[in-house]
Amino acid sequence: MSTVLLTGGTGFLGSHIAEALVADGHELRCTVRATSDTRWIDHLGVDLLPLDLGRADAETSAALAGVDTVIHCGALTRARSEAEFMAVNAEGTGRVARAAADAGVRRFILISSLAARGPDGAPGPISPYGRSKAAGERHLAEATGDMETVVIRPGGVYGPRDSDLLPLFETANKGWIVVPRSTAPVQPVYVTDVMSAVLAALVCDPPDAPLPVAGEDLLDWSGVATALSAAVGVTGRVVRVPPALFWTLGLVSEIGAVLTKAAPAMDRRRAQDMSVHSWTCRIDETKAALPGWSPQVSAADGLAKTAEWYRDIGWLR
Ligand SMILES: NC(=O)c1ccc[n+]([C@@H]2O[C@H](COP(=O)([O-])OP(=O)(O)OC[C@H]3O[C@@H](n4cnc5c(N)ncnc54)[C@H](OP(=O)(O)O)[C@@H]3O)[C@@H](O)[C@H]2O)c1
Repeated sequence: MSTVLLTGGTGFLGSHIAEALVADGHELRCTVRATSDTRWIDHLGVDLLPLDLGRADAETSAALAGVDTVIHCGALTRARSEAEFMAVNAEGTGRVARAAADAGVRRFILISSLAARGPDGAPGPISPYGRSKAAGERHLAEATGDMETVVIRPGGVYGPRDSDLLPLFETANKGWIVVPRSTAPVQPVYVTDVMSAVLAALVCDPPDAPLPVAGEDLLDWSGVATALSAAVGVTGRVVRVPPALFWTLGLVSEIGAVLTKAAPAMDRRRAQDMSVHSWTCRIDETKAALPGWSPQVSAADGLAKTAEWYRDIGWLR
């Protein structure tokens, strides 16, 4: 078992990774900011070390002392500008990677995103978020030296503790299943299937290329509507919203965010990602690179587990 430093452990995906690492007997350190909400990892009793990816050099080196493996999951997934995304997801990743290489870390696992590749058919990333994740990958490649690297690129992740898709479940629970009027396929991945890919990445041979991670099921939005309806146990009316309306909702949310000086909950990028683009990938090479890994949770089961968790915690009534 190794000593692992995990960034982003307070977040949706990171907290599932943290739980699994502790359950497997690794010695875990999680980085936090002064503003971090640690509710998902408090019960683990792991060491919490200060680190802000937007700055922090001295803090990074201190957190890395004696660490064997870094799992870099921390990132901004919403921001007010491309510069904000770049400062954390690109430069922040570069800083942690260089400090890890200097500290003699053996392996660095970067949680990137399919957004770094871009949607199906695109030559590269098409959003500020995607460009920042791609730049993070490049910074890691430049920093490594002898350090082994594994880059994981999840597609759309969902599951317990995710609040991004909660509105979809809430409206379905009220009898309205609101989905984009789009023929684009959807390939969601349940959070524990990403977590198990990261655990497999601790011990795999270092791959030559980023590893896409997505579920086995390729659905269309009608299939999502059916599975969502079954998950919440409500036979709802399906409303198919045109992409232009999704885009407008994203714009309205962005304007609201400017007025309140917050990062927008929805934005035009997310609206386009859901209603226009498709984000599919082949996972056979990932299965070959991560011996023993394959997605275990079907979309129908994953949505049902997520709805059940939302109900248990009171997010869905
Ligand atoms: N969710 C998805 O569908 C998806 C898909 C593909 C890839 N990913 C990637 O998976 C990772 C986790 O995403 P998530 O969905 O779990 O997001 P999340 O719930 O928003 O978690 C983000 C984590 O990053 C940390 N973080 C953000 N800015 C930071 C900064 N300046 N300094 C230090 N820590 C910072 C947050 O810490 P605080 O608690 O301090 O805010 C939090 O722990 C990210 O790298 C993301 O790009 C996610």
